Amino acid sequence: MASADEAAATGVFMQIFNTIATWRSHAAHLSPRGPRVFVPTMGALHAGHGALVAQARKLAGTDGHVVVSIFVNPTQFGPHEDFARYPRTLADDVALCERCGCDFIFTPAATEMYPPGQTQLSINPGYMGDILEGAIRPGHFSGVCTVVLKLLAIVQPTHLILGQKDYQQQAILRCMVRDFNLPVSVVTAPTVREADGLAMSSRNRYLTEPQRAAAPVIYQTLAWAAAEIRNTNSDAAQLSAAMRQRINAAGLETQYALAADCISLAELRGSLHPPCVLLAAAKNGNTRLIDNMLIE
Ligand code: PAJ
Repeated sequence: MASADEAAATGVFMQIFNTIATWRSHAAHLSPRGPRVFVPTMGALHAGHGALVAQARKLAGTDGHVVVSIFVNPTQFGPHEDFARYPRTLADDVALCERCGCDFIFTPAATEMYPPGQTQLSINPGYMGDILEGAIRPGHFSGVCTVVLKLLAIVQPTHLILGQKDYQQQAILRCMVRDFNLPVSVVTAPTVREADGLAMSSRNRYLTEPQRAAAPVIYQTLAWAAAEIRNTNSDAAQLSAAMRQRINAAGLETQYALAADCISLAELRGSLHPPCVLLAAAKNGNTRLIDNMLIE
């Protein structure tokens, strides 16, 4: 990591920006050659985020630039959610970004993104924001869409990289980019998992040892259900009930476990066949875990 002046002199070090104005004045002088690839995050970065940044580096090549934002966005947390205790590990995050080939980190204060006393318009994601995660976390996707729209306007990337881990989030953000004609290509990167299948998540660190031991049941259940759909003409309602039963049997509390249309996320009924996506969410103690599997 280096100061702006050192980096300008050598052209190799990662730089960190805290304000929109300093980023903009720097970005104005960047070479327009090559893609500008953007990875939005809330920090507490793990190897899943690292894979997104590494993919961004590949896409940007040597001419382009990789921008990572680190911002725990208050507007996507509900009043009883974990905003205050969401892990903040900036020094480690900076090191991981640098290792994975990031050029610029944008990490604004909440007051920079949402100036006090200033009204804030927000995006209404409609039906897709009200189902599944949105039914359990009202207003969550409005907060996500609003902050990502702001970040896109600030960073002005050619490419936006999102993780498949948050399947509904990437599906809604794809719609936002399409519906508002935003000049950015959306790339969805595969979910990075622990060796036992558990999808990596910043929230996994909340799990106690027995909860962590039980957590892979979500992935195992998705893999089982995917095989059922590929091998037999499973009935949607029966498969959903069987998925719930498997997850609950491991001591978790299923919130939803179902097959949905890959694009609209509408729950599928009757006989299931590819393509579709399996979506699951479960409480493991006080920690919510989500995961999904695409069947193509
Ligand atoms: P966050 O949870 O930090 O995730 C940032 C990005 O990393 C998202 O695109 C997410 O899908 C991806 N990601 C998380 N875990 C992953 C894994 N195991 N494998 C692959 N990708 C993974 O998602 C958010 O932040 C926020 O909602 C944000 C989009 C930044 C808006 O505030």
